[in-house]
Amino acid sequence: MSENQPKYKRILLKLSGEALAGDKKMGLDMPTVTEICKSIKKCYDVGTEIGIVVGGGNYWRGRSSENMDRVRADHIGMLATAMNALAVADVLESLGCQVRVQTAIDMKQIAEPYIRQKAVRHFEKGRIVIFGCGTGSPFFSTDSAAALRAAEINADILLKATMVDGIYDKDPHKYDDAVKYDSLTHQQILVQSLKVMDSAAAAMCRENKTPILVFDLSRPDNIFDAVMGKKIGTVVSDK
Ligand code: GTP
Repeated sequence: MSENQPKYKRILLKLSGEALAGDKKMGLDMPTVTEICKSIKKCYDVGTEIGIVVGGGNYWRGRSSENMDRVRADHIGMLATAMNALAVADVLESLGCQVRVQTAIDMKQIAEPYIRQKAVRHFEKGRIVIFGCGTGSPFFSTDSAAALRAAEINADILLKATMVDGIYDKDPHKYDDAVKYDSLTHQQILVQSLKVMDSAAAAMCRENKTPILVFDLSRPDNIFDAVMGKKIGTVVSDK
């Protein structure tokens, strides 16, 4: 593999919504979003085909009260991911990338509806596709949306860019003796209930043999390093 050859032909990048807020914790911190997008642009420039699923946690987390209907809360969350998708698209375009946004809930005045074949065609034409509104169904996380889209577009890997630098045996923010794994199987995530993603998402990756790389987005260039095959984070595979 030459130095400028990406390790992966097609990736599904899952961006945590919270990471887009930077130090502001809520909403969008545009300098942070720009740093993340610059790293994505480097992946684009070396020819990797890029699908992106964004979370919505910078705008909305769960329910605002115990009384709130779960389905309604999840619908609000889907709208939050659509806002993030549009913002990331805008920054990527300003950096010179060709981008299309597709949403799982129809909002045709704002974005294309999600059509798998059209998304694949966009990749073939050198466009980044950002998938908004999660799976379009309540009760599913954006990690599940990432696992689903990764399988649908035959991504070589799901890159989960998040707030921790890999998968630990217990919460590293709570326990000093937490141990980080370099590699794991999907089965281990499920059996040990490791808190890296919900079990529906992990099970979907296991069924479809989608490898996952979990890494820290506080250093945005990790996205590019991951695409180039540099050893970072924790890799999850079927064996
Ligand atoms: P091809 O010409 O098929 O390669 O793809 P294209 O995306 O360039 O062409 P298309 O004519 O489908 O889209 C032109 C522009 O309109 C692109 O920016 C699309 O994202 C946008 N677009 C296409 N369909 C929709 C839609 O349903 N809603 C919205 N809001 N925009 C759309």
